[in-house]
Amino acid sequence: MEVILRPTAGDAVQLTARLIAARLREKHDLVLGLATGRTMEVVYDILAGLHTNEGLDFSLCRTFNLDEYIGLTPDDPHSYHSYMKKHLFSRVNIDLRNTHLPDGMAVDLKAAARRYEEKIAACGGLDLQLLGIGHDGHIGFNEPLSSLRSRTRDKSLTPDTIAVNSTMFGDEPHRMPRRAMTMGVGTILDAREIVLLATGASKAAIMAKALEGPVTSMVTASALQWHPACKVIVDEAAGGALKERDYYRWIFENEPDWAPYRDVADAGRGI
Ligand code: GLP
Repeated sequence: MEVILRPTAGDAVQLTARLIAARLREKHDLVLGLATGRTMEVVYDILAGLHTNEGLDFSLCRTFNLDEYIGLTPDDPHSYHSYMKKHLFSRVNIDLRNTHLPDGMAVDLKAAARRYEEKIAACGGLDLQLLGIGHDGHIGFNEPLSSLRSRTRDKSLTPDTIAVNSTMFGDEPHRMPRRAMTMGVGTILDAREIVLLATGASKAAIMAKALEGPVTSMVTASALQWHPACKVIVDEAAGGALKERDYYRWIFENEPDWAPYRDVADAGRGI
């Protein structure tokens, strides 16, 4: 695992978007795992801008989202289907037939989960999985005690997650579902490369547990410590409780792999 500490949220988000763009330029039919949440909205803004201004080409890109709420139709404004259309798919030249999200309306959720895993496998597996992190350390919707070998399945959300995520339901917080379909921790760990982005002081405590604490199913993001090619990008606020901050800063300034990205900074967005 490599931890990259950037001065501001804007710098961290720019770096994440530039890294995804670089992978897409290297491999036009990239199999890209996508995440939702507020943190990702700005990443998708930048990717949409790179498409408009620099011709970043999504025409062959295949995507698989981490999760979807159970019981929301794809056209429900609060569904992750709608989130992805609004923040990314409608703004770039992606072929919607190449985009995939779990089916939260399936009558047989177990069969739908199996089919989702089969579709990922049929595409040759995930090249790059983008992740955010929940305040309880969840990746996707892998809540505490999720098996670290779990696959795509239906999952009940914790009261904390329900409380936090219902704030994204505007004036309809009561419509926030109690369950979701999510890729498993094992599904995520099978991706060839992983990039987790976290910004803001509210994520500092959980980032310290996930990155520098023991691997435990109580903090499913800690399982990323097992992954051979996982990059974690944080701003100074989200990295504020990490012990090895100086080391992480040194890595970004000195490791040859990061040389092409050292001039990537917040492009004045003031995030
Ligand atoms: C949801 C998603 C997670 C995401 C998390 C963080 O719970 N299921 O995949 O990491 O939100 O959201 P935010 O960026 O809003 O903090």
